[in-house]
Amino acid sequence: IIMRVIIVEDKVAGGKEACKVFANALANGAKVLGLATGGTPETTYQELVASKLDFSKLVSVNLDEYVGLGADDPQSYNYYMKQHLFNQKPFAKSYLPNGLAEDEAAEIERYNQILAANPVDLQLLGIGENGHIGFNEPGSPLDAKTRKVALTESTIKANARYFEREEDVPRYAYSMGIGSIMQAKEILLEAFGAKKAQAVKALVEGPVDANVPATILQKHPNVTVIVDKQAAALL
Ligand code: GLP
Repeated sequence: IIMRVIIVEDKVAGGKEACKVFANALANGAKVLGLATGGTPETTYQELVASKLDFSKLVSVNLDEYVGLGADDPQSYNYYMKQHLFNQKPFAKSYLPNGLAEDEAAEIERYNQILAANPVDLQLLGIGENGHIGFNEPGSPLDAKTRKVALTESTIKANARYFEREEDVPRYAYSMGIGSIMQAKEILLEAFGAKKAQAVKALVEGPVDANVPATILQKHPNVTVIVDKQAAALL
């Protein structure tokens, strides 16, 4: 299986390339878009917002949400999605895990049912410095569906920049499992900046290794990777 790797000058150019992948998926009849959060997809969302693409008849499902943060919490992924995409380009229906759900097992079951009813046509992904996708940290089972996961120290540190204090970063998240992610018909992974270079090298060239979760994407038949020069530096 060949992973398409597109190397661009910077994240702005990356966002434009990503927008083309979305446009193509929609032209081919995509109905469900799998979305991601973090710094990486911001330029992609800017391009999508500026584009003529119409999401009003589509469904979106997001990868993950922090346990303990509600949709009105500015640090929640729910809030992020409204800020970066949904307010400007509403979908017919947008799903994220509910970080405030009282019954965690029921919330996980609810999300898995949503995914079963809405098979993802195109899944957007970032990648953690340690190779995590969604919040599937190193060592995660490769066949898992949605579950509650503990964040690693390195992810807590990397994500602390969005919080006032490192102690404020939630320690748990709900995340689609690697098995759920692999169900998507098409996957688009983006990585920008030198901090991602090691993970990108493993993703593209390394062996499939549960300790670098993104490497499982080598087994997916339709993956595009968009990286800037810095993230591609070790290829
Ligand atoms: C977070 C998110 C991931 C994201 C990754 C990289 O922990 N759960 O979905 O891809 O880390 O984040 P960033 O794009 O900000 O570098």
